[in-house]
Amino acid sequence: MRIDNTRRYTGDLVNLSQGLISRDIFTAQDIYDDELERIFARSWLFVGHESQVPEREDYILSRMGEESVIFNRDRNGKLHVFLNNCRHRGMRVCRYDKGNSRKFMCPFHAWTFSDLGELIAVPKLDTGYHNELDRSQWGLIEARVYSYRGYVFACWDADTPDFESYLGDLRFYLDDYCELPDGSYGEWEAFGGIMKWKMPCNWKFGAENFSGDYYHNPSHASVDQVILSPAGSKGRHTYDDVTKAREAWKLNICITPEGHTSRGQLFKDDYDYLPTYQEMAVVEDYFRDCYARRQEKLGEKARWFGHGGTIFPNVSYSNGVQSMGTWHPSGPHETETWRIFLAPKAAPDEVKNVLRHYVIRYQGPSGLTEQDDMENWGSSHEGSRGTIARRYDYHYGMGMGYEQKAWPATWLGGEVYATEDVSEQNQRAYYTRWAADMDIPPNIDRIDPAKTATKTTLAAE
Ligand code: FES
Ligand SMILES: [Fe+2]
Repeated sequence: MRIDNTRRYTGDLVNLSQGLISRDIFTAQDIYDDELERIFARSWLFVGHESQVPEREDYILSRMGEESVIFNRDRNGKLHVFLNNCRHRGMRVCRYDKGNSRKFMCPFHAWTFSDLGELIAVPKLDTGYHNELDRSQWGLIEARVYSYRGYVFACWDADTPDFESYLGDLRFYLDDYCELPDGSYGEWEAFGGIMKWKMPCNWKFGAENFSGDYYHNPSHASVDQVILSPAGSKGRHTYDDVTKAREAWKLNICITPEGHTSRGQLFKDDYDYLPTYQEMAVVEDYFRDCYARRQEKLGEKARWFGHGGTIFPNVSYSNGVQSMGTWHPSGPHETETWRIFLAPKAAPDEVKNVLRHYVIRYQGPSGLTEQDDMENWGSSHEGSRGTIARRYDYHYGMGMGYEQKAWPATWLGGEVYATEDVSEQNQRAYYTRWAADMDIPPNIDRIDPAKTATKTTLAAE
């Protein structure tokens, strides 16, 4: 059933012809409610990595939008994503974060479901239900599932295009992300569980920040004064020294109309490996060897060095230490971030240990960098709610009109737009897609809110 849109939003929420966005998109309850229906119930959402359920009958709990889901590998090795919700009265049928099981027994009245989602047992089926309950109609609710090189996405809507169509030209950048450090495709392994924490801000602040915000370095100034990276010099990125030593374009790349984004560098020529992991010779040797093999395998394309980006709507991938950060909505005013980190499965233990220590001091609630981000987004959210403040739009106009198509390397993935130095084109691309999914016109001229009191009425679907 579609939601009632007769009471829709006033004014001009997303005016990308002028680079303006209303603060209400971060705070209004009715907009948030529409997002759950129009975006989270229709998009492909990241649920986990295959290495989190390596064996048959393994499962973890994940989330899609506000709802809990079970991501499992069944007895035959097939992946599933089920709504973690009993068909009888909605109790969570699984209450453990992870485990290995062939069945899920609801703790309320003991309806029991198999790892294939079937309802296999119901107490009092004979004396209570008189054998008239058709169990085949009351299995767990199951989502579509797609594993892209081990990264698993799920979708509730049968009409949403298949995952690879949904991905569009982000494929080049996601493939780059999925490569092992030596440029080959092989196994990654999620380590250390899932970091989970709550932030007092709307879910889109994290998503748009990771989509293309290359210019919020002032808020990380204190972190950049300490030696956070394993490279052994000041800074938080493993690639800071390489960047200083070599000429490179820093690129924001948006994929339209899908709204996915990528950030990265394109080195202007080949460059020699610079020592990056100074803590241990075995780690340094591992990455130097990987670097040489990547150069040989990829040739000119090895000049591309991805930093990360956002897959619409709410998962951000990061290179450096491989991670996926998901911005789960918990009402308009709270985000629950879930982040996993991955290491090459075949890497020596010393390599995995160095990566693990690096992310502990870098990211998540314990990490110096991500604490800065949480302060920014929490304060921005508060600043979006003020009675006076919310009358004034946010500025998303940086670089408007200076986007360049497929520049400077034509092999950089299809219909992409890139600018040298910073720009907010990625954020604009992200909100163009957001507006399309929300059925809001993104490119209309400024409208006086007082004249639009009747609001937009959308055709029922
Ligand atoms: S709520 Fe699950 S068996 Fe009743
Ligand atoms: Fe940041």
